[in-house]
Amino acid sequence: MLLRLPGLIDPHVHVREPGQEHKEDWDTATQAALAGGFTAVLAMPNTRPPVTDAGTLKAALQRAATGARCDYAQYLAATAGFGPEQARLAPRVAGLKMYLNRTFGPIWLRDHGTWHPAFRLWPREAPLVVHAERVHLAAALFFARLYDRPIHVAHVAYREDILLIRGAKERGWPVTCEVAPHHLWLTEADAPRLGEGWAEVRPRLGTATDREALWANLDVVDVFATDHAPHTREEKAGPNPPPGYPGLETALPLFLTAVHESRLTLEDVVQRMAHNVRRIFRLPEQAATWVEVDLEASWVLPERGWRTKADWSPFAGFRVRGRVHRVVLRGQTAYQEGRVLVPPGFGQDLRAKGLNGR
Ligand code: NCD
Ligand code: ZN
Repeated sequence: MLLRLPGLIDPHVHVREPGQEHKEDWDTATQAALAGGFTAVLAMPNTRPPVTDAGTLKAALQRAATGARCDYAQYLAATAGFGPEQARLAPRVAGLKMYLNRTFGPIWLRDHGTWHPAFRLWPREAPLVVHAERVHLAAALFFARLYDRPIHVAHVAYREDILLIRGAKERGWPVTCEVAPHHLWLTEADAPRLGEGWAEVRPRLGTATDREALWANLDVVDVFATDHAPHTREEKAGPNPPPGYPGLETALPLFLTAVHESRLTLEDVVQRMAHNVRRIFRLPEQAATWVEVDLEASWVLPERGWRTKADWSPFAGFRVRGRVHRVVLRGQTAYQEGRVLVPPGFGQDLRAKGLNGR
């Protein structure tokens, strides 16, 4: 049975271009997105060089304009030198990303003394996304209160963190959050099976208690985001394995499997992968855009043969129920039965007309 869903939007994708095209580029990342049912991706700024100012933003957007096959927007990263010049870029970017914990790439706002300018100057109506784990999440929520502005918490992974967010939401604080499939399906107990370097990811995989707490608190989870973070097989197997998993092509099949197993409703999934993302990130409607899924298709996620250059998956071997049949983007069939049918450059910048652009 074919069912029509709205075009999915992934607000957390590491495209790697410019600078690390051996891991991924705009062409391959957006092919993977379309194959996964996503018609728009928001690209993280920890590229090489990172996107931190007008010049690096312009260069990144030029790459996106020529390479992207689905719609997109590009994040800006806050550095210790954040000031009014960066704040003025708000209408042109997906949002501001603040790396409050150490992760892949050079950007790290190590001391909370460096957080003030971004919290003070970034426009309230523009998305501010924090990578904040444990005590850093408590600190970020305090800053959001101090400056009376909304924040969106990336990839919540732990019981203590989802409970902090629940507490903040119960008090009416303007916080939203996302959870990634790997934190909902995997735990640290999967590390030996995956292999040590392969299991590396930030936030690290949690315990079974953490995973169950995420499922038990899904009512405070606004968004499912992949945190698609491709690294090559050689890098993951090598001496200094970088953290991150590819995820664009496996997320929807996993969530549709949860629907099949009655752990979620289809409405839960559509809210968190389309409607809530559009609302929180203030993205314009994509006209004549939808995804056709086969809810009955039963298949095993393969080891290889993915569109991402990473070409591996921490979910390889999982039997799933549900498959993307066709993706229509702005009236054009962009993907059908294994084939991507729109060229690089077909994708449009969702911020071309600013923050509330139509
Ligand atoms: C991400 C990456 O590789 O860019 N890695 C990861 O483990 N998630 C960075 C990040 O999102 O923290
Ligand atoms: Zn990430």
